[in-house]
Amino acid sequence: MNVTWVLGLPSGHEIGEFVTVDLGGTNLRVCLVRLKGQPEEIDVKQHACRLPPTIKTGDARALWNFLTDSLEEFLKAHQLTANRKDRLPLGFCFSYPASQEYIDHGKLKTWTKGFDIDGVEGGDAAAQLRNALELVALVNDTTGAMVASAYKDPKTIIGAIFGTGCNAAYVENVGSISKLQTNLPPDTPMVINCEYGAFDNAHCVLPRTKYDLIIDKESPRPGEQSFEKMSAGLYLGEIFRLIILDLHDKGLLFPGQDLTDLNEPYKLDTGLLSDLEDDPLDACCARLKECLGIHVTLSETKMACFLASVIANRGARLCSCGIAAICRMKNITSGHVAADGTVANKHPKFKERWAKALGEILRWDKDRREDPIIITSAEDGSGVGAAVVSAMTLYRIHQGSTDGVQER
Ligand code: BGC
Repeated sequence: MNVTWVLGLPSGHEIGEFVTVDLGGTNLRVCLVRLKGQPEEIDVKQHACRLPPTIKTGDARALWNFLTDSLEEFLKAHQLTANRKDRLPLGFCFSYPASQEYIDHGKLKTWTKGFDIDGVEGGDAAAQLRNALELVALVNDTTGAMVASAYKDPKTIIGAIFGTGCNAAYVENVGSISKLQTNLPPDTPMVINCEYGAFDNAHCVLPRTKYDLIIDKESPRPGEQSFEKMSAGLYLGEIFRLIILDLHDKGLLFPGQDLTDLNEPYKLDTGLLSDLEDDPLDACCARLKECLGIHVTLSETKMACFLASVIANRGARLCSCGIAAICRMKNITSGHVAADGTVANKHPKFKERWAKALGEILRWDKDRREDPIIITSAEDGSGVGAAVVSAMTLYRIHQGSTDGVQER
C-alpha cells in the first residue's frame, strides 16, 4: 500500500498545459494535455511507440536515453522547446511499484511485468526526467485512472488496471495511514496505490497450481507479484501454454504431434484465450492450428476452449477479490470502478465474470435489478490523469502547501 501524495480528487475545474510521459508494460506514450477547466473539453496530442524488447531487459542508461530522446523528439515536433522560456510542467506515469516520499519522486521497489532492467531498482525513477522538464508528479497508472475518471465521473470509487499487470487505487483518510508521519489533518483524503499484485507473496493464502509455480520460478523476480502472476494478462496465455504442454506430455492432448515450437516461453498471448471464448468452434479450431502449427480436431478444440475459460475465469474472480477487499475495508456499497487494461477492455467475458464474483463476495441480493458497484471504462489515466494530478499539485504549491512536495 503506497502513499501517492495525491491529496483528494479533482474538482473538474483544473486548468493548464502539461506534458506527460507514460512508461507502460508495452508502449511509451508522450502527450501534450490541455485542461481547460471543463471535463468535456480536454485536448490531447500524443505520440506512442512500442518499447523495443531489448530495453525491457537492458540497463538503466538505455532506458532513460530512450525515454528522454522520445520526449525531446515530441517536444521538437510540437515546437515546445524553441520559443518557450518557461519549462512546461511534466507528469510521469510510472506503472511499477514505487515508494514516494514526495509526489515528484518514486523509489522503484522492484520491476514487475517481466521487466528486468539493471540499475533502476532502489533508485529514484523520476530523477532522469526531472532534468528534462519541470517534473511535477510521478503517478502510478491506477492513480492516474482514478483521478482522470473522477475528473469526469464523481461516482468513481476505485481506479483499477486489469491488463498486463493488475492493481488498484482508492482514496483513504490520512489519519488511517499509520505508517505516514505527517501534520496533515486526519480527515485529509489521500489516494493510495494498493500494489495488490504483490498480495500473498508469502504464499499463505492462495492455492497455487504447479503451473503457477513454474511461472513464478521462471520469472525474472521469483517470489514476487504472486497475485498478479495468477490473474494478469501477461500470464494467462503462459498458463495456457504450460497446461497444453503438460497434457501433451501425458499423451492426453494432440497425441503423436510435434509441439516443439510451443516450448518457447510466452509464445501464446492472452488474446488467444479471448478468441477461444468468443469465436465459433470451427474458427477456434483454425486459430489453434495457426498458433500451434499442428493438426487440431474439434474435440481437442473443445478441450482448449474449456481450458481457456477456466484460466480466464480464475483470473477474473481473483481480480474481483482485490476490489471487494477495498470495498469491505472502506464500507463502500455503491459506485464505479474505473478500469483500464487489455483484459478489462478486450476479454469478452471478463466484466461479466468479475461482476458475478464481486456480487458473491459482497453478498448482493440475488434478485437485484442492477449491481450497486459497476465496472466502467477508465478515462485516460496515464495522459489526462497524470496531467490532472500535476495541475492539482501546482495549485497546492501555489496555495503554500508543502506536504509531499520537495523544496524547489
Ligand atoms: C505494477 C503496478 C501497476 C500494475 C498495472 C503492476 O505490475 O506493480 O504498479 O499499477 O502492474 O499496470
